[in-house]
Amino acid sequence: MNYFSLRYLAITGVFVILEILFSMMLLAQPVTIPVMTENNAMVLYANKNGDLGTVFLGPKLTNVAEYDDVAGMYRQGDDYSNILNSAYTPSGSRSLLEPAITVTHWDGNNSLDLRYVSHSQTKVDDNVSVLSILLKDPVYDFEVMLFYKTYYKEDVIEQWSEIKHREKGTVVLHKYASANLHIKAKSYWLNQYHGDWAKEMQPEESRLTHGIKTLDSKLGTRANLFQPSVFMISLDKPATEDEGNVLYGALEYSGNFKIDLEVDYQDNLRIIAGINNYASAYSLKAGETFTTPVFLYTFSSKGKGAASRQLQRWARTYKLLDGHGDRLTLLNNWEATYFDFNENKLAELIKDTKKLGVDLFLLDDGWFANKYPRNDDRAGLGDWQENRRKLPNGISSLVKEAKNNSVKFGIWIEPEMVNPQSELYEKHPGWVIRQPKREEHYFRNQLVLDLANPQVQDFVYNIVDGLFTQNPDLAYIKWDCNAVIYNAHSAYLKNQSHFYIEYMRGLYTVLKKIRAKYPKVPMMLCSGGGGRVDYGALQYFTEFWPSDNTDPLERIFIQWEYSYFYPAISSSNHVTDWGRQPLKYRTDVAMMGKLGFDIVVSKLPASDLRFCQEVIASYKTLKDVIWQGDQYRLSSPWENDVASLMYVNAGQSRGVVFNYLVNSRYGGGSKLPVKLKGLDPKKKYRLKEINLYPDTTSPLESGKSYSGDFLMNVGFNPQVSSARSSVVLQIEEEV
Ligand code: DGJ
Repeated sequence: MNYFSLRYLAITGVFVILEILFSMMLLAQPVTIPVMTENNAMVLYANKNGDLGTVFLGPKLTNVAEYDDVAGMYRQGDDYSNILNSAYTPSGSRSLLEPAITVTHWDGNNSLDLRYVSHSQTKVDDNVSVLSILLKDPVYDFEVMLFYKTYYKEDVIEQWSEIKHREKGTVVLHKYASANLHIKAKSYWLNQYHGDWAKEMQPEESRLTHGIKTLDSKLGTRANLFQPSVFMISLDKPATEDEGNVLYGALEYSGNFKIDLEVDYQDNLRIIAGINNYASAYSLKAGETFTTPVFLYTFSSKGKGAASRQLQRWARTYKLLDGHGDRLTLLNNWEATYFDFNENKLAELIKDTKKLGVDLFLLDDGWFANKYPRNDDRAGLGDWQENRRKLPNGISSLVKEAKNNSVKFGIWIEPEMVNPQSELYEKHPGWVIRQPKREEHYFRNQLVLDLANPQVQDFVYNIVDGLFTQNPDLAYIKWDCNAVIYNAHSAYLKNQSHFYIEYMRGLYTVLKKIRAKYPKVPMMLCSGGGGRVDYGALQYFTEFWPSDNTDPLERIFIQWEYSYFYPAISSSNHVTDWGRQPLKYRTDVAMMGKLGFDIVVSKLPASDLRFCQEVIASYKTLKDVIWQGDQYRLSSPWENDVASLMYVNAGQSRGVVFNYLVNSRYGGGSKLPVKLKGLDPKKKYRLKEINLYPDTTSPLESGKSYSGDFLMNVGFNPQVSSARSSVVLQIEEEV
C-alpha cells in the first residue's frame, strides 16, 4: 500500500493515528538549498517539519557553511506560524499573512499546507541551471513544484511554479503566485512606475511601511498602461547608480499581474508576485498542471547601474528575440502622414527612405479595409485587406517599390482588435470580447478579439502568415495593441474566470506559432506607445515602442527609465517633429537606442537632410557599441541640467557618450566635467565630438587623448549649453 492510498484510508477515518503521523511529514535532517549566482546567494532551508523558508538573500558569503548561522543572528520576535519566511506561503493552515497560494479542494476544504519533499538541480549549460523543489500537502494529494533558473554570470534568477493535484475532483486555485521572496533589511525603498498614454515610466521612490503595497494591472491587454510590473527594492537606504543593495523584479507576463510587497510585523519584506487573481479563480482538474508565468529578479550590491547592466546582458543573451543580432534603421510614416496617404505618396516616401539612408520603410496604420475604410481610428480594424482606393495595386506593389529602391518594407498591424464598424464585427460578433447583456464600451473606438477562442487565434496567425506568404520580401512587422479589455467576457469559454488567463495563453500560442515559421523577422512590440513592454512578450519581439510621446525632452526621461530594465537594442527611438528642439537634439536623443525616423524627409532643408544622412552613417559604425555595449548612466536628467549616459564595448576600447541639456533656464549647462565610467583606467582614449550639424565646428579640442583614469576620476566637459544643447562624443582607445 503506498503513501497516498494509506492516506486516503486515513482521511476516511480508519487510520486516524497514521494520518497524524503522515501529516507531520518529518524530515530526517533539515535541508539547506543554496541558490547561487556569481555574486549573490538566496538560501532556502527546510526544517525538520518540512517548512521551506528563505534564510538569506544578498551578496554571497565566502564560507557556505555559515549560512546555517544566519537565522540565529536575528531577534525579531516570535514567528507564531513557523512559516513567516515561507518560500511559497500556503493559506488556510498556519499562515497569518498574505499567501502565495490559496485553494479550495475538491471537497470544499480551504486549507493548504506545503512541505518540502525533495529537490534536484539540472545543469542546462556552464552558466544556466534549473533547481526544482517539490512541496506537497501532507493531507491532500496536492503539490507545488518551485523552479529557480539561475543565470550565473548575469546574477539573474527566473522563478516560477507548477501546481497540480490528484484529488477526486476539481480544485479551485484562488491565488497562484509565481514567486514568494523574503528579504531582511532595516528598511525597504520601492522604486515603482506609473503612467498613462504618452506618459510612460514615471518613477516614484518611497519607503515601504508596514502592511501591503500592491503593484497591479487589471486591464487585460495593454496591461502596463497605468503601471508596469517592473520595480526596484533598495535595502536600508535608496540605492544610487553605483552604491547600495538593490533588487530588481519583473513579471514576464503581458496580462494582469499582481505584486504584493508586504512589510510584516517582524519588519521583513515579503514579495509575492504572479498573475493577478482578480476575477480569475482557476479550476484545475486532477492530473492537469497549472504553470505560472516567470518572475524575474536580479540583485546587486553595487547599485542600480550594475543591476541594470546585469539585466541588459541577460536580456540580450537569453530573452529578447535575436538580442545579439542586427536591427534595421527605418523611416515610419505614422506622424508624417497619419491616415492620409495613397500609393503615390508612399512611393515617394519609399524613395525618401533610400535618400535618408535608412534600411526600411515602415507603413503604419490606415492601409486596409474597404467597406469601412480605415481613414481614421473609428473604422476598419479587423478587415485586413488592402484599401483599394489608397492601394489599388496592393501591398505587393509597395514591397516591389521598396526593392527597386534597395530598401526593405515593413508593415503595421493590430491583429487583436476590431472596430464595431468593420466587416469582421458584422461577420463574427461571437469573436468579440463584450458582455452580451451590457452596452459596449470602447477604448479608442475599438474592442478586443477573444484570443481564448482557437478560431480567433487562427485568424490572428493568418493575418501575419498571409502577409508574409503573399509578400515573401516583407521584412518587418509593427504589432500594435491600442485597447484595454472592458466587459471581460468570452462567448467561447465555459468558465469565465479563466478568461484573462486564456486570453494570454491564446496570444502566446499565436506568437509561438509565428516564431516557429518566421524565427527572426524583426517585429516591434507596440501598444499605443509602451502599454505592453515585458519579457513575456519580448521573447517574440526584437524591439519595443516606448511611447507615442516623441518629444525628445520627454523621451530622455522615458528612455532613461526603461533603460534600467531593457537593453538599448530593444528600444525603438524615432526622430519626429514633436517638441521644440532642433533636429540635431531630436536625432541625438533617438540615437541612444535603436534609431528610426518619422519625419517628412522631402520637406527637410538641405542641411537637415545632410545632417541626418551623416548621423545615420556614423550610427552604422557605432551601433554595435550602443546595442551590445555596457550602458552607464552618468548624470541623471532628474537631478542635473545635463543628462549624460554612455556605452562601452566589452573590450573597453570603444565607447559613445550622449549629453543632453534638460534645463532651459538661463545659464543651464555642463558646469562640471562629466565623470565617465566603464573604461580601463590604464588605457588612453581619444575623444571626438560627432553628430556635428553641417557647417558647425566643435569647441572641443580634437585629437587630444586622456587616460581612462582621468576620464573616470576628473571627467570630461562636453560643453553643453543652450547653444550646444546636445553633444555626442565618440571614444576610441589610442593604440
Ligand atoms: C499607436 C502607436 O503607438 C502609434 O505609433 C501608431 O502606430 C498608432 N497606434 C496607429 O494607430
